[in-house]
Amino acid sequence: MNERILQLFEQNPDAYVSGEEISRKLNVSRTAVWKHIEALRQAGYKFESATRKGYRLLSKPDAWNVTALLAGLRTKRMGQKLHVYGEVDSTQTIAHALVASGAPEGTLVLAESQTSGRGRMGRKWHSPAGKGIWMSLVLTPRIPVYFMPQLTLLCAVALCRSVQKTAHVDAGIKWPNDLLVKGKKISGILLESSGEDERLKYVIAGIGISANLSVDDYPEELRSVATSLAIERGADVSREALVQSFLQEFEELYDLYLEKGFAPIRLLWEAQSVTLRRPIRTHTPQGIVEGMAESLDDSGALTVVTKEGERMKIYSGDIEL
Ligand code: BTN
Repeated sequence: MNERILQLFEQNPDAYVSGEEISRKLNVSRTAVWKHIEALRQAGYKFESATRKGYRLLSKPDAWNVTALLAGLRTKRMGQKLHVYGEVDSTQTIAHALVASGAPEGTLVLAESQTSGRGRMGRKWHSPAGKGIWMSLVLTPRIPVYFMPQLTLLCAVALCRSVQKTAHVDAGIKWPNDLLVKGKKISGILLESSGEDERLKYVIAGIGISANLSVDDYPEELRSVATSLAIERGADVSREALVQSFLQEFEELYDLYLEKGFAPIRLLWEAQSVTLRRPIRTHTPQGIVEGMAESLDDSGALTVVTKEGERMKIYSGDIEL
């Protein structure tokens, strides 16, 4: 039905099509027309509505340009096997299923929108159509399970560098792996893994980048804490260029990590951090910890020095700056 409604708008570019006309031509009720228009809005189509005139199609959601993406990809493994979808529940779920059917390291799942995008600590991830980069990357490093936080930090460094290079915005990393611009979140990372005998069998690195969302694309409750690259730089970014750049940065850092360990990644993370040498507050199973974020240790944990001079390690969770 949505396809047939869109055809009507395509036959009348820039013109208003009344609800009554749609209802008559497609033989559905006016309420059904309204519901379909709302569903199309959710899927990223923009309509203007005017009393007595009807609806006018203003814009369609951006669609992934797979040919351009692959043509400009300078990696050996990362993203070379690419699966692109329209609407999915979560790219993470799809990537897990692909691994089960033998997908190799570097396989990338991209979607236009997610209906159940997952965030860290059981949160939802807002993933409207055509505006963001919602992707999951398959990794199969043969490293101990307890090294996984290091991979999260590596991913944040790659993301930060690619955002700076491609979008030219001043992004920084909030521990462990949020990307902030002027204190607001533009990107998040969620690593999900499966282990065997204390070694990682595979990891799915889920990355969400709010690339071209406008303020209206955010629900009210997110507007004070989240932003997009387009809002911050005043122009859209090429999603394809950003994915290419991220995959290239990631592959270089990942190869460096597999060869030399976490030490060089840790230095790069520290250079991009907006957390270190600042007062922070966090909830731990032992209670609230407040203090100065001092450094990152070899495992990726944050060392915090409290007012009393006690050194504490924070291994997971969220911090408030
Ligand atoms: C966070 O900051 O809480 C992490 C957000 C991770 C979101 C991405 S979007 C692509 C991938 N699919 C998901 O369902 N989640 C991740």
